[in-house]
Amino acid sequence: MTDPALPKRVVVTGATGKLGRAVVAHLRAVGVDVLAVDRAGGRDPRDVAGEFLLVDLTDYGQVVEAFTGSADEHAGGVDAIVHLAAVPAPGLMSNATTFANNSAATYNVFAAARAAGIKRVVWASSETVLGLPFDTPPPYAPVDEEYAPRPESTYSLNKALEEEMARHFCRWDPELVMVGLRFSNVMDVEDYAPFPSFDADPQLRRWNLWGYIDARDGAQAVERALAHDQPGAEVFIIANADTVMSRSSASLMAEVYPGVEIRRELGDHETLLSIDKARRVLGYEPRHSWRDHVDLL
Ligand SMILES: NC(=O)c1ccc[n+]([C@@H]2O[C@H](COP(=O)([O-])OP(=O)(O)OC[C@H]3O[C@@H](n4cnc5c(N)ncnc54)[C@H](O)[C@@H]3O)[C@@H](O)[C@H]2O)c1
Repeated sequence: MTDPALPKRVVVTGATGKLGRAVVAHLRAVGVDVLAVDRAGGRDPRDVAGEFLLVDLTDYGQVVEAFTGSADEHAGGVDAIVHLAAVPAPGLMSNATTFANNSAATYNVFAAARAAGIKRVVWASSETVLGLPFDTPPPYAPVDEEYAPRPESTYSLNKALEEEMARHFCRWDPELVMVGLRFSNVMDVEDYAPFPSFDADPQLRRWNLWGYIDARDGAQAVERALAHDQPGAEVFIIANADTVMSRSSASLMAEVYPGVEIRRELGDHETLLSIDKARRVLGYEPRHSWRDHVDLL
């Protein structure tokens, strides 16, 4: 049965992307009516089966049509937005192109949701705001949401600005619920094959403190965030419960970041990207691990 706390009809942006495909499939599976939007793909059911609208989010008019149900064949009131569309990492496009696309897309999504009277927005922030690639060591470990963003790239700078923008949209509208999910590095099951080789060099994945997020658990986090009903802007780190390594988390920190304060006793492979807040506030609980998909013997 569909969770009554979930909104009935949701627009998902970035729907044909890596995370978007998992999110659309998951939300539809739990009974949410999804209008999938992206500027790429769509006619091919391998991209995203079901209702789809080709939208370039940098064009405000197209976003308003999608959110107000005024595009032909896509009528129906929208209750919430899941905004995942972006150039998804530093270095894929020029800095200025990344900033221009991502900042315009997110402003248009936030503003069009406001214009359409939509009170719930969940969007993809990023683990990068925690200070990746940690050339400057983290302030403590596990890292959490308690210190100010430390963007080190233009991509991350834009994510930090989005978090700030969300705070102001919520200040303007006391009924608005905005949830920023600081996803770790998104993985599909096919991506797990090289994981056992990471152990040979602890420097290889230190850039995000050896974290990852299984796309299916990312989708679960989106579902939990859509059920969140406390007005205001909140951000959450979303990672899996373990690291990508077979070595212990404590030994990794001792070798690579010997001067960094470890704030609590660490479980053997415990994530160094704390998901305590997401567990506590959203009820997020990762169900997957790369260890279930790779033969470690
Ligand atoms: N992949 C990761 O490791 C990772 C980590 C942290 C955060 N994120 C964030 O999660 C979100 C999803 O990432 P992903 O890995 O699925 O990326 P992806 O590139 O697979 O998907 C992003 C989608 O956004 C669409 N898009 C980009 N600009 C658009 C625009 N102007 N209008 C309409 N559609 C547009 C693209 O066509 C693409 O389908 C992004 O916001 C990304 O920044 C990703």
